[in-house]
Amino acid sequence: MNEKKEVGEKAAEFVKDGMVVGLGTGSTVYYTLLKLGRLVQQGLSIRGIPTSKQTEKLAKELGIPLVSFHEIDHIDVAIDGADEVNPEYNLIKGGGGALLREKIIAKAAHTFIVVADSQKMVNQLGVFPLPVEVLPFGVEMTSKYIEELGCSAKLRLQEGNPYQTDNRHYILDCSFQTISNPAILEKDLNLIPGVIDNGLFVEMADLVITMNASKEIDINLRK
Ligand code: A5P
Repeated sequence: MNEKKEVGEKAAEFVKDGMVVGLGTGSTVYYTLLKLGRLVQQGLSIRGIPTSKQTEKLAKELGIPLVSFHEIDHIDVAIDGADEVNPEYNLIKGGGGALLREKIIAKAAHTFIVVADSQKMVNQLGVFPLPVEVLPFGVEMTSKYIEELGCSAKLRLQEGNPYQTDNRHYILDCSFQTISNPAILEKDLNLIPGVIDNGLFVEMADLVITMNASKEIDINLRK
């Protein structure tokens, strides 16, 4: 069974006619986008706001009409994947490098839906290295201050060069192993000069769609 496809397609059922929809990035929400593309062909009227250039390109190919922030005053629903989800439905995101735009759109959305296969559900965040988006200027110093918070920080590379986000920043992948207080760490990281934002999404998810042990779709509301 393709869990990503199951949970990704399920999320599309929450999208209704006339909605402004935040379109996430990654291999799970990919299936949401494919489904939305098909629904649009069948007459569903939505306007999408993409979280990355990659998603923008895919949405255009699928015929999903897009808008930018200056054309809207709200986002009804945003749908996105996650790298780790803890029992409180706090998240690590940014494995695909789109965390900043993803966080801006998730924050602006009235309802933020997370689609995650069962592998993503963990008891404690931190085994997946936390992506931190940083300014290229002074990255060596920023990296040193981040490591003082208890991790090992590795500059993300692409073909031997620093990986650049859609915002022309770098990513430091920070291996904490265990993150006991995501809310404090999220704030502490963002207080370091040079840090733009980090992949901890605390108390943001409204709904998490995953698969349970019996391989059934499990829809969970954050308390
Ligand atoms: C993109 O930057 C990420 O936040 C993704 O949403 C996250 O990495 C999940 O991606 P997959 O669905 O591909 O695992």
